[in-house]
Amino acid sequence: MITQNESQPLFSDHVDMRMVTANGDHNGNRNALVRLDPDHPGFKDHDYRVRRNAIAQIAMTYKPGSPIPEAPYTELEHGVWQTIWKALGLAHREHACDEYLACLERLAFATDRIPQLAEVSQKVEAISGFRLEPVAGLVEPRIFLESLARGVFLSTQYIRHHSTPLYTPEPDVAHEIIGHAVTLASKRLAELNRLFGEAVKRTKLDSAFDRLARIYWFTIEFGVLREDGRIKAYGTGLLSSAGELAEMHKAELRPLDLEVAANHVYDPTHYQSVLFCADSFDQMYEMLREFLLSW
Ligand SMILES: [Fe+2]
Repeated sequence: MITQNESQPLFSDHVDMRMVTANGDHNGNRNALVRLDPDHPGFKDHDYRVRRNAIAQIAMTYKPGSPIPEAPYTELEHGVWQTIWKALGLAHREHACDEYLACLERLAFATDRIPQLAEVSQKVEAISGFRLEPVAGLVEPRIFLESLARGVFLSTQYIRHHSTPLYTPEPDVAHEIIGHAVTLASKRLAELNRLFGEAVKRTKLDSAFDRLARIYWFTIEFGVLREDGRIKAYGTGLLSSAGELAEMHKAELRPLDLEVAANHVYDPTHYQSVLFCADSFDQMYEMLREFLLSW
């Protein structure tokens, strides 16, 4: 059974600005936010923190365009990956949209070992031109979103603490790979990510940026659509969490309207109570593409 601690944030993503503003000075540095809070599941685990720091070092010394060095995962951590896949296998068959399932098949991940970012990046790049670059932790939202314009997805490389295999308070390699990297193996989803990056680069006003970030949240992160009369997920935050997938049918579904989504303030600390549902993958793709191009 999947349990969640209600008092903990469920999931703080790249586009969730709360954690970022709480950390103060970070402008321009995509690796400025490496810090475990005292309530982080791994805070008291010395070995985990040493490994987190070693993996952070990879990101901090990484030169864009060079091969991504291997992260030193332990057997315990490969076990976390196995647990996540076990929970997600059935949930994906039930709740993932066809576009996602086709990508998953194309990438053919091992379910018993955490794949290295270098390998995932190579596979994705061959399909859509998108590549992954490692970052040490949560990235300032504008830096994260603007990098999409270059066809670069800034990806964390550590995995969540083994004591909470189905919960992470921050994006980790499981969310990045199972959520984002898989969807970036769809040419159409990769194009939408790129268009988001370009739209953000053209956005100067903070209020306009917030609107765009909310649309990213309600589509790329938490989007759902209708397929053969059923509600299916294409959002990475849903597809990388068995808990979110199990709960998504309890959300209030609203028809996909990007102006409405742009102004809908969400709570990233709980399962999403409102989701925007497209009539089909094609409708979502066309609507979002047109909107971003004319932004
Ligand atoms: Fe995400």
